[in-house]
Amino acid sequence: MNVVNTLVVVGLGLIGSSLAAGLKQRGRVGRVLGVARRTETLQEAQSMGIIDAGALSLSELSGELVPGDVVFISVPTLAVESVLDECKACLPAGIIITDGASVKGSVLDAARRVWGVVPPELVAGHPIAGSEKSGVSACNPDLYVNHRVILTPVEETSIGAHQKVTALWQAVEAEVLNMPVDLHDDVLAATSHLPHAIAYSLVDTLAHDSDNEDIFRYAAGGFRDFTRIASSDPVMWHDIMQANQASVLDAIDLFSANLGRLRKAIATDDSEYMLGVFTRAKEARDHFTRLINKQAFVPKMQSKEVTYVMQPGGQVNGQIRVPGDKSISHRSIMLGSLAEGVTEVEGFLEGEDALATLQAFRDMGVVIEGPNNGRVKIHGVGLHGLQKPAGPLYLGNSGTSMRLLAGILAGQPFDTVLTGDESLSKRPMNRVVKPLLSMGARIEAEGEKGFPPVKITGGQSLRAMDYTLPMASAQVKSCVLLAGLYADGETSVTEPAPTRDHTERMLRGFGYKVSSEGPKASLKGGSSLFATQIDVPADISSAAFFMVAASIAPGSDLTLTHVGINPTRIGIINILRLMGADITISNEREVGGEPVADIRVQHAPLKGIQIPEDQVPLAIDECPVLFVAAACAEGTTVLTGAEELRVKESDRIQCMADGLITLGIKAEPTPDGIVIEGGQLGQGTVESYGDHRIAMAFAVASLRSSGPITILNCANVGTSFPNFAELAQNVGIKLTTQAQ
Ligand code: S3P
Repeated sequence: MNVVNTLVVVGLGLIGSSLAAGLKQRGRVGRVLGVARRTETLQEAQSMGIIDAGALSLSELSGELVPGDVVFISVPTLAVESVLDECKACLPAGIIITDGASVKGSVLDAARRVWGVVPPELVAGHPIAGSEKSGVSACNPDLYVNHRVILTPVEETSIGAHQKVTALWQAVEAEVLNMPVDLHDDVLAATSHLPHAIAYSLVDTLAHDSDNEDIFRYAAGGFRDFTRIASSDPVMWHDIMQANQASVLDAIDLFSANLGRLRKAIATDDSEYMLGVFTRAKEARDHFTRLINKQAFVPKMQSKEVTYVMQPGGQVNGQIRVPGDKSISHRSIMLGSLAEGVTEVEGFLEGEDALATLQAFRDMGVVIEGPNNGRVKIHGVGLHGLQKPAGPLYLGNSGTSMRLLAGILAGQPFDTVLTGDESLSKRPMNRVVKPLLSMGARIEAEGEKGFPPVKITGGQSLRAMDYTLPMASAQVKSCVLLAGLYADGETSVTEPAPTRDHTERMLRGFGYKVSSEGPKASLKGGSSLFATQIDVPADISSAAFFMVAASIAPGSDLTLTHVGINPTRIGIINILRLMGADITISNEREVGGEPVADIRVQHAPLKGIQIPEDQVPLAIDECPVLFVAAACAEGTTVLTGAEELRVKESDRIQCMADGLITLGIKAEPTPDGIVIEGGQLGQGTVESYGDHRIAMAFAVASLRSSGPITILNCANVGTSFPNFAELAQNVGIKLTTQAQ
């Protein structure tokens, strides 16, 4: 169906002719009339089938137009005003006028000069598309597919005209956005006009440098990539720079100042400054590349959907090393940033959670090189060297990042806001807000449970305190201890049951004195952390999926190497052994203050047990996969004292029960645990509720299911175990992924 009967394109360059051709090819326009300065252009456009007829001036065609027809002005920016003059002189009432100029303030100013006001039929617009090629011969009917078109309607703009122009662009498969005029011109000055100015200036500089006659002969890919846009239409860009003068000058000034700083860093061998610029820029550019690779151009805010399709049966065999420990990876960035000197990390987990922590510290001015195959170099800024971030710190799915950071940020001189994804935005932060308030911090979260965003007002002096944890939580313990680094006097935390002690161990590794007496850990504020080397062991929480897999699948024999076996993390081994699992630990050693070992697991029949409550905090993240072990065990397994599971990335008691029941297992949730009767796992579709550990637990369950299992919403596996699917396939789990 036509979106417009007659379209007049004034200016048959790349932009105008591509819109005409795009509409024609899709059968969305009655006819296209062209206006060009030269008869040859009109002839060429007509012979290419882009226009049906043409003229050298708009007035020659205006008699053929009726209300609702559209005039699209695609001439160089400074020539738009003369076309608007012509429009005023010859167009009958009710003709919609739109344009494609790269600057919008100047077009609206021109309209005001011509008409005295912005006429309601004028809808200023800017397609963010194009190329260094110009002219009707460069015409591309698919130029706008998945590209953005920004419209800048003003108060006077008629709704009908705005709708029509929107429909026109949508008809050539563009995404239409609306923006205030000034914002458009500022954003484009920075993202488009400045890069063009620099590219033109660079090529001109090199071309005129007589000492460098051979420069183009030796110019390599970098030069080619960087300067492609210097082949663009000179008149068009001359006009844009003039039309957007103020915004372009601001962008050039900012860039010149930063280039000047970089020059100084190069002159004075300031490696840290250089690495800071280069690592931040690389990260930003890589992020952009990922966005544009995922979709043709428009990075729509779509959440990625990943489904695991599991075929039943199989066994797991071989030797694998799972990725680095998540808790230690987070802390290596945090403590490395707060230390004096350069900390080198190996085996860093490149999962989304730990990367969120890394990005947060980059946002606070810390220079971090990598991650590169698990290697990260952190240029510590000392306890008092963090800088105020430009905006809120976004921590994705990661509760650990948010809770531990809250402790650190409570002691900073600047304000911060911590935000997260949908799941994190529903997790209780009061558990850290309360003790931090008692220490004199100014911190607030939303509602009764204290949901994110968490707002921290800096510049408070923190008081040391003796805190008894109301729940066994390493995150809360760590938060208070980290705030204690900034408090006057000795801060102590007493826990109701042992929880992971990486914060205490790693602080000691960074040369900070932490004393532990039974359930109480204490430190005095005001000392310093010193850079160190960290070798992150493989994460026992990730290894747990394969430990259960090998235990439940007959014929399995799997070795997991270099796994962290910190005594506060080995609940999974203890519980599986109580259930009858065959686990051999060998090659025990210590790396960087953490015990590691190789773990061999062979299939063995499991039996249901009452899980000892003292093991629960030591296996808190492993419960989802333990429930799968329980479903495959003979008899009943009872878990109590695990209410913490209800406030993890999902309510892990309810969500696991739902999935197990779907698969035909008797599972009864209780307020603080679950009762599971071993049986035959069936087939079906289960939800992971976006919880990484639930997705992986059900993937393991397929080894003993009678039919296929489909697991929905698995993208978040990337938060803790980015190569899970690949490793699972390698050892024999029949997993395929479907991504949308
Ligand atoms: C973690 C502590 C645990 C755990 C989380 C990581 C840590 O949370 O579930 O995955 O690194 O301190 P709680 O301390 O809240 O139980």
